[in-house]
Amino acid sequence: MDKGFGDTFDRFTKRTGIKWLIITITGWFDVNCGCEYRRKLLNKWFPYKQKNKMNRKITLEDILDPVSPGVFFKEYWNKKHLIIRRNKFKNLFTWQDFNHYLNQYPDIKALQILNYRLDGDGRWCLDKVRKGKLKLPFLKKDEVYKLWNEGKSIILPFAEYQKKELVEICHEFERYFEKGQSNIYCSPRANSKSFPAHADQTENFLFHTEGKVKWTIYKEFAPDKPKEILEETILEAGDLLYIPQYQYHKVDTIGPRILISIHFSNKPKQSLSDFKVTKLGDTGRKKWYNWIPERYFDKKGKKIEQSYRMKSNTWKDRYFRDKI
Ligand SMILES: [Fe+2]
Repeated sequence: MDKGFGDTFDRFTKRTGIKWLIITITGWFDVNCGCEYRRKLLNKWFPYKQKNKMNRKITLEDILDPVSPGVFFKEYWNKKHLIIRRNKFKNLFTWQDFNHYLNQYPDIKALQILNYRLDGDGRWCLDKVRKGKLKLPFLKKDEVYKLWNEGKSIILPFAEYQKKELVEICHEFERYFEKGQSNIYCSPRANSKSFPAHADQTENFLFHTEGKVKWTIYKEFAPDKPKEILEETILEAGDLLYIPQYQYHKVDTIGPRILISIHFSNKPKQSLSDFKVTKLGDTGRKKWYNWIPERYFDKKGKKIEQSYRMKSNTWKDRYFRDKI
């Protein structure tokens, strides 16, 4: 894509053969044709507007920024955890989004409450209670609110379609991995229950969007047991953490937080020597549609105000004259 008029001019001279002529003539007289200097200068003087970043599809470069995908796969994938401290994707799921989601309870797809009971895995799962798989009472909205205020953590599973950017991230990851899932972990305060040291069977990408959490990463991978701590650190909104499959890890809540886990299995027989990347659009995941009727937003994403109110103050006289 042309960055400015210099690039367009350069393409024009190449296509018409003028460039070849200039180079040949200047070559005869051993003079620099100045093409490159002119191209850069014209680009600087007459730059083209770059496409709005928000309209761009999210790429793996954007997700792992500033670590390149090449470095990620060669040095970290399946080998060691990676912490990227930065200020990105904080709007993937905010407290406002959480507020909106929970206020729709019980008309929501799924919800889990951690540390609800002592037996089993301790969770209360909305979908399992609804289907009768879990013989637990169906909680009322005020009861869920009470549990949250008592300090219980809440998980929103299958959250991929909560935000356009979240689906785009899944779409992009699923070119490199199998179809994934996104869970959103929310805690109201410090010392809310989280998971003890464990290893997952999936590649985990953890996007921090609100508050801070303390992470403990262990040296061991399953089926070994977690023994030696490799790193203890606090991550905050905007940071990304990658944990390879089977590596042990633990989260401690140190205050209110929202953390999005996006996790995937590896493609069968995926290896660096035979690395398969699926074409965008061929991953099988349903796309995100824009349901907003046309002409509600301009090209820059700004809302177009459509007012049908009468502008003058005399409308009242005209409107009420016959009715009073
Ligand atoms: Fe985990």
